[in-house]
Amino acid sequence: MDQIVINDSSHLKGQVKIEGSKNAVLPILAATILASNDQSVITNVPLLSDFYIMKSVLESLNLKTQLNESKNEIVVDATGELTHEAPFELVTKMRASIVVMGPLVARTGYAKISLPGGCAIGERPIDLHLKGLEKLGVKIEDHGDFIEAFAKNGLIGNNINLDFPSVGATQNILMAATLADGITVISNAAKEPEIIDLINFLNKMGAKIIGKGTSTLTITGVSSLLGVTHNVVQDRIEAGTFMVAGAIGNNDIKILDAIKEHNEPLIDVLIKMGASVSFEEDGIRVKGNYELKSINVETEPYPGFPTDMQSQVTVLQALSDGQSQMKENVFENRFMHMQELNKMGVNFRQEGNTIKINGSTHLKGAEVDATDLRAAASLIIAGLNASGKTVVNNLKYLDRGYFKFHKKLSDLGANIQRISK
Ligand code: UD1
Repeated sequence: MDQIVINDSSHLKGQVKIEGSKNAVLPILAATILASNDQSVITNVPLLSDFYIMKSVLESLNLKTQLNESKNEIVVDATGELTHEAPFELVTKMRASIVVMGPLVARTGYAKISLPGGCAIGERPIDLHLKGLEKLGVKIEDHGDFIEAFAKNGLIGNNINLDFPSVGATQNILMAATLADGITVISNAAKEPEIIDLINFLNKMGAKIIGKGTSTLTITGVSSLLGVTHNVVQDRIEAGTFMVAGAIGNNDIKILDAIKEHNEPLIDVLIKMGASVSFEEDGIRVKGNYELKSINVETEPYPGFPTDMQSQVTVLQALSDGQSQMKENVFENRFMHMQELNKMGVNFRQEGNTIKINGSTHLKGAEVDATDLRAAASLIIAGLNASGKTVVNNLKYLDRGYFKFHKKLSDLGANIQRISK
């Protein structure tokens, strides 16, 4: 079992390179299922455990893959006969596997998918995915621990209004609708950059989707799609995580090629808290402040403040002077990391979906357990700014979303090691 061990690392300085987006590559890999002609070549893929799980899911469906790790490139061939069942042991490891359901049922007329696992941040139902697919004429049978989806005679376009702009449901329905007969309109669709990247890929494949980046997507179905080459967009959450690390003390970090437009609400928060953010030709540079100001933040679907940056920003709030609030509007159980931060001296109170954090905290090193992917990153950032030694356990969560996080931090000057216990 690996652990991360950090000893007081209060000064980080330098440049950091960001990987391709985890949340973009997963649906893009699922979309390769739709390519009945030609191979798909996906570049800038992040070598994360979630990526490898999705690769295995595709292989289990009889797609052929060839990964070139040194080039961060994967070639996927979906031109052969596909099978229909994504196996339990893979899907339960990663909730995002559910996005193979839409493309698989659209391409083959039948899909059998286990119910998804992943980070334990709330109930995370998939009702919106299923309702949307049903509207396209898919017959869903829910067997408890697996779901069957049937569309023997193909899918039919329809109007679908999402009750909530779910990222996964938008992706699943969008991919299915590309091969439906007629026009599908998805309203209240998610607008995340990862959705835009998926639409760019699908349109290159021959899909007809308009409205990307807005809450109304109109899809005119086509009879088949082709494999094409696509470069995955930058990971805005990894970029944001390094921005948060840069905002503390006398740190000074340039996040190479970071995309400003993808991180506006976070940048706004960092500036209001007193960090200095500058936009340079080759990236975004964040310089820290020893006297961060308290702030109230609430998470929202994109373009609001992202839930995936919530736990990292709670560390800044703990370090800042005065009381800050964090309201979580997207997931109902995403404050588990606060109990761990409490072991490091953070004083907080939870009221429903809001926590009140009393700063400024003198963080003390402790042994803590990552409780989900972004919690892992927040505990490491806290450890960098704590006195004494911090040990972070449960790195399987970190590995889902951060490639060589300890190495990137150590290159910036952190006293951090990853050890096998
Ligand atoms: C994706 C991201 C995740 C991010 C989240 C919100 C991936 C692989 N993961 O997750 O990192 O935190 O978006 O930005 O891209 N919901 C329902 N019914 C559904 C679907 C969702 O009630 O059918 C609820 C969820 O329980 C949750 C909220 O909607 O409370 C948001 O979920 P969703 O946008 O679907 O997130 P994911 O696609 O799972």
